[in-house]
Amino acid sequence: MKVNRRKFIKRLLIVAASVEAIFLLKDGVSKVDTSSSKDLFNAGRVDSFEKNKLYPFSTGQFFLKRYEDGGFLALSVKCTHLGCIINTNSKSGGFNCPCHASQFNQFGEVLSAPATRPLDIFPITIENGEIWVDTKKPVKRSNFSKSQLSYA
Ligand code: FES
Repeated sequence: MKVNRRKFIKRLLIVAASVEAIFLLKDGVSKVDTSSSKDLFNAGRVDSFEKNKLYPFSTGQFFLKRYEDGGFLALSVKCTHLGCIINTNSKSGGFNCPCHASQFNQFGEVLSAPATRPLDIFPITIENGEIWVDTKKPVKRSNFSKSQLSYA
């Protein structure tokens, strides 16, 4: 009789430990997924952005530009001279800095100093038709290249 009780308690503990291990594993996986997506800014669905248009995201501190070929670029709103917030230039399709008059073209390249390098860009991930921008990781560039564009 004592042996049966011991076996029963032992099996009960094994089952309880297994159930707890399953919950811990499940929680661990979901925590990883949640924290990684929290760092990304959801800009919206790909098909909600027209070609050749610029979309400001003030909370994310970037402009999302969709170019003629459908490619996307997320450009930082901060001027690369001293960090002022740039304005859009509706005539050129580029950007102007109100502080010291630097100008940038539609790809963020410098058109006039004192800025010496293009606007920083943020990595874009397109998943299931949604655009995610990693606003925590600005990328410094020396020039624009087509490889910087992201496509659906
Ligand atoms: S901060 Fe933009 S030109 Fe100086």
